[in-house]
Amino acid sequence: MTHGKISYVNGKYVPHEKAMVHIEDRGYQFSDGVYEMLAVKKGKLLDSDLHLKRLKRSLKSLYIDWPTSPDSIRVIIKELIRRNKVTNAYVYLQVTRGVAPRNHPFPKDAKPSLTVMFSELQPPPQKDYESGVKVITGPDLRWGRRDIKSISLLANVLAKQEAVKAGVKEMWLIDGNSGNITEGSSTNAYIINKAGEIVTHPANECILGGVTRDKVLRVAKKAGIKVKEKPFKLKDALAAKEAFLTSTTSGVLPVVQVDKKKIGNGKPGEITKKLMKAYSDFMNKR
Ligand code: PDD
Repeated sequence: MTHGKISYVNGKYVPHEKAMVHIEDRGYQFSDGVYEMLAVKKGKLLDSDLHLKRLKRSLKSLYIDWPTSPDSIRVIIKELIRRNKVTNAYVYLQVTRGVAPRNHPFPKDAKPSLTVMFSELQPPPQKDYESGVKVITGPDLRWGRRDIKSISLLANVLAKQEAVKAGVKEMWLIDGNSGNITEGSSTNAYIINKAGEIVTHPANECILGGVTRDKVLRVAKKAGIKVKEKPFKLKDALAAKEAFLTSTTSGVLPVVQVDKKKIGNGKPGEITKKLMKAYSDFMNKR
């Protein structure tokens, strides 16, 4: 689908074309806000508990109050699903510190803004899952609190555009201090080492702890695949047996090339395929 006909802005369901916030919203002027992206499949909102838990963390980290209770947010999303007659789509929700005269300190009496809409993002085409995708690498130019799902995404946007320019799916970001591959511009990054173990950056302040990452690692362990949450470097990625990425919009997507180097035989690896199947079974069962 394209965007929904009806979106939500601060207490009101409005036609999408009229869904506006003030120019002095601190999200607009300072990127002073956070967001979540959730999936709706067959009309059902998925993993709202995990997303709202992460939203709580993000809000708390930035000292922004809940705009309304988590339960009310669930009700708002469900009402949007109903009004827009949505079956499969992504929900984008954003909370900012609110509208106030532009000044750096937190405003005393601004009310947090809440906007909710259906995103126009589409899942990757089937051929990406069958043949795998390519990634390039580049510097991680982001700030030190990448665990907060902040709307300040300029470094992510620039990285993604480099990937688009290179004709690949994603850019994997290399931390300037440690040399570790942290994650992709909008996805988490994983390799499978020679021992057949999944290696992925630990969920600390250096990466966004993906909701998909949480689920995929649990599913992997259940399927008997070993998981090592420890950083890996470019040389490890280039020597990897297999690789993949995850996000709400991509699920588990095989990676078959990093920079100029083919991973494995240049096709989605066996462990990745096993994991994709286990993850899709897990998601379909609920
Ligand atoms: N991106 N890392 C980054 C930097 C992300 O922006 C995202 C999500 C992820 C994966 O998280 P999750 O599994 O919870 O979707 C990892 C969303 C989809 C986006 O910005 O569009």
